[in-house]
Amino acid sequence: MIASPLEQDVPEDIQRTAKRWRKKPGSLIQALHEIQGRYGYVPREAALQLGALMDVPMARIFEVLTFYNYFKMTPPGRFTISVCTGTACHLKGAPELIAAISAEIGIGEGESTDDGLFHLQGVRCLGCCGLAPVVTVNGQVHGKMTAEKIPALLAQCRNEAAAEEGAPA
Ligand code: FES
Repeated sequence: MIASPLEQDVPEDIQRTAKRWRKKPGSLIQALHEIQGRYGYVPREAALQLGALMDVPMARIFEVLTFYNYFKMTPPGRFTISVCTGTACHLKGAPELIAAISAEIGIGEGESTDDGLFHLQGVRCLGCCGLAPVVTVNGQVHGKMTAEKIPALLAQCRNEAAAEEGAPA
């Protein structure tokens, strides 16, 4: 038996998604789509939290996730980097951010590095336009991003991965 998460224990972005789609019939796919857009996949924990908040049985959620090839339940890279390409972020430099990331890690949008460390994707408005341009790494928001800050952001990811593996950073 899976315990329902208390609302205050659920990350704010999952709460927002659940609230946005909860009362709309047939909206489960959109809600899952939104989560995948943010994280690059649908984390199991997020699916459980979404189900509890939207009052959708878990069996139904996993039925949808496994039926549509589009949905991924494992991360396409250790770090999924999402660059918001919504209007505000586009105007404030999203294309330059994508170019800077591509130059650093040698992949384009929708691609993953051969070592599985990074996946790069463009996503629609993340709902925090006041922080434009926005980049998320595994769902964590980095606002007011600049091309100059990209190398440090990627270095932070590499250091984190190295620390997890017990290798010297
Ligand atoms: S346009 Fe990027 S957060 Fe809204």
